[in-house]
Amino acid sequence: MSIQSEVRRLTAPDIRARKGGEPIVSLTSYHAHTAALADKYCDFILVGDSLGMVMHGLESTVPVTLDMMILQGHAVMRGSRRALVVVDMPFGSYEASREQAFASAARVLKETGCGAIKMEGGRRMADTIRFLVERGVPVMGHIGLTPQSINTIGSFRAQGREEADWGPIEEDARAVADAGAFSIVIEAVAEPLARKITANVPVPTIGIGASAACDGQILVLEDMLGLSPRVPKFVKRYGELGPGIEAAIRVYAEEVRSRAFPGPEHVYGMKKKD
Ligand code: KIV
Repeated sequence: MSIQSEVRRLTAPDIRARKGGEPIVSLTSYHAHTAALADKYCDFILVGDSLGMVMHGLESTVPVTLDMMILQGHAVMRGSRRALVVVDMPFGSYEASREQAFASAARVLKETGCGAIKMEGGRRMADTIRFLVERGVPVMGHIGLTPQSINTIGSFRAQGREEADWGPIEEDARAVADAGAFSIVIEAVAEPLARKITANVPVPTIGIGASAACDGQILVLEDMLGLSPRVPKFVKRYGELGPGIEAAIRVYAEEVRSRAFPGPEHVYGMKKKD
């Protein structure tokens, strides 16, 4: 008999069913150790392609590969037990055709064991989302600011600042929901637009820089912990871990250099020689 209690992992339909209910909590994670911590509080954990910028110091998410996402997705699955794990599809792994998207998504699901994938894009991705969902791939949409398009949009600016610009973003949300996405990340849009979209789509909206009007929230873990070198203005810092880590490294370096580094005597029960 197993002494481990069985924990049921949340699924894409569980998240879909939370529309208009208790707010959905989510964070990004790329590692087993942070996934284990986030798992205690989050409904889903996103293995975001932001890992390219946060972990690897890249200028954008464009160079991130499918292999990088699969490696970290696997780590997050190993670290977590309860939260739904969603893995981002990186730039170039899904846009060329529905078949390309299915092949990449199938690799992600098979090789990581995660429960869903996320892809950026509104109306332009609707056919692909429908194709995947019909074939058993749960898809989370991502509209508003779509960072993988940095080379065509030019900057990571908030979207839909003027009411006149809302129409296309609302159409993106509808198209992604109609195509069968189980929820939609809305990034960097003003509160009135996020509120309107949330009221008009039947699936949960997950805001990042898109106000409390959404059905749930997501933040990049390292951003909210004060560990990322560049953090978007909208992010509230819930911790300042950077200075704490640096202080610990400084003390360690000083101890090593001054030969004050503690030996293993206390572990092995040996007496230190004078
Ligand atoms: O890659 C990522 O971390 C994301 C979130 C910002 C939503 O897509």
